[in-house]
Amino acid sequence: MPALPDGDPAPADGRLPGGLDWNRTLRAYVHVPFCSSRCGYCDFNTYTAAELGGLRFDSYVEAIRREIGLATQVGHPRPLASVFLGGGTPSLLPVPDLTAILDGLRQAFGLEPGAEVTMEANPEDVSGDTLAAWREAGVTRLSLGMQSADAATLRLLQRVHTPGAAVAAALAAPAAGFEHVSLDLIYGVPGQSLESWRETVLSAVEAGPDHISAYALGVEPGTALGRQVRRGEVPVPDPDAAAQQYDVADEVLGEHGYQWYEISNWARPGGRCEHNLGYWRGDNWWGFGPGAHSHVDGVRWWNVKRPATYQSMLAAGHSPAAAREVLTAQQRETEQVMLQVRLADGFERAELPEAPVERLLADGLLENGDGARLHLTRRGRMLADAVTRVLLGWD
Ligand SMILES: C[S@@+](CC[C@H](N)C(=O)[O-])C[C@H]1O[C@@H](n2cnc3c(N)ncnc32)[C@H](O)[C@@H]1O
Ligand code: SF4
Repeated sequence: MPALPDGDPAPADGRLPGGLDWNRTLRAYVHVPFCSSRCGYCDFNTYTAAELGGLRFDSYVEAIRREIGLATQVGHPRPLASVFLGGGTPSLLPVPDLTAILDGLRQAFGLEPGAEVTMEANPEDVSGDTLAAWREAGVTRLSLGMQSADAATLRLLQRVHTPGAAVAAALAAPAAGFEHVSLDLIYGVPGQSLESWRETVLSAVEAGPDHISAYALGVEPGTALGRQVRRGEVPVPDPDAAAQQYDVADEVLGEHGYQWYEISNWARPGGRCEHNLGYWRGDNWWGFGPGAHSHVDGVRWWNVKRPATYQSMLAAGHSPAAAREVLTAQQRETEQVMLQVRLADGFERAELPEAPVERLLADGLLENGDGARLHLTRRGRMLADAVTRVLLGWD
């Protein structure tokens, strides 16, 4: 699991600097750091029952509710524009615990009318009963980890669900009242042919979600996959094969009415994830839970990662923040370019320096989007880091 970044010490009482703009849109992220088993490629902050000596949802939920209380004391609560329950595996939470978290947020902050409430769910946790209960608890949008329609790819990723399970879950969700459903896919997996990847994208489309994400497989040190690659048991993912798969995804999704709106995300009209757009646009958000990151008006902080430490800090009346950083105006501008470049909404031409833009247009990495706005071409999306460096004058 990656270490937390360094930063300045965070005050034990959770106090934040004065003068922050709390009038900006506020969002909440809740991290649920539990999984029934660990997938071989994943280095997110998550733990299995075996690693924790059993899962204690009640003490976790109590700690989350304490952190919500702390946020109302040191922040300026205003109705949340969106909530995102991510993991780990939020769909493992018993429904009363999920309800307690969402009720806690509603009571402390309130929700804006029509606020998007997303929950990440693993296909094997989805049934008619769980769908109805999650909807009843206030979840409005489901994000399902499909990854692949190919059994061999799912095995290599060490996923426990079968190829049809995510499709079945996505097909069942609208009848339970979910207007918004997303499927996550992974490309660039060693051994998966282009044809098999095309089949995966088509099966995702046939499940009818209004949103599809496709992420390139990252081989992270410290994961089972990282060790298999190091020992030569699994080949290193081929970047050219991954680029071809990205092309296919963009082409097939475009043909079926899904427009890219961020490098790894496509949506049908009305299906964009408002919460994630808020991150890319620099909104304020409070991240609750072990290892969660928060951002308010250029101040960022992140919580300790271990659930037991997180819980004991809150039980002792302390903030669970491990450290924080206050960004300078220059750092904020740089970060805004890095985030905004990823979006199909892109930039007004006048916002960008002329010479780099000319070069990127000539190289076919930027193009005109809606109105006078500029955004990445498909090739530019695959080279987004290089484009960012040119825009920032670093290359
Ligand atoms: C961390 S998971 C949490 C939600 C849920 N447990 C799931 O697996 O879908 C969110 C997404 O991150 C993806 N992910 C995790 N590690 C990744 C990696 N090394 N490369 C690409 N995607 C990864 C997962 O496949 C999943 O779609
Ligand atoms: S990919 Fe999802 S289910 Fe798999 S270990 Fe990571 S968080 Fe858990």
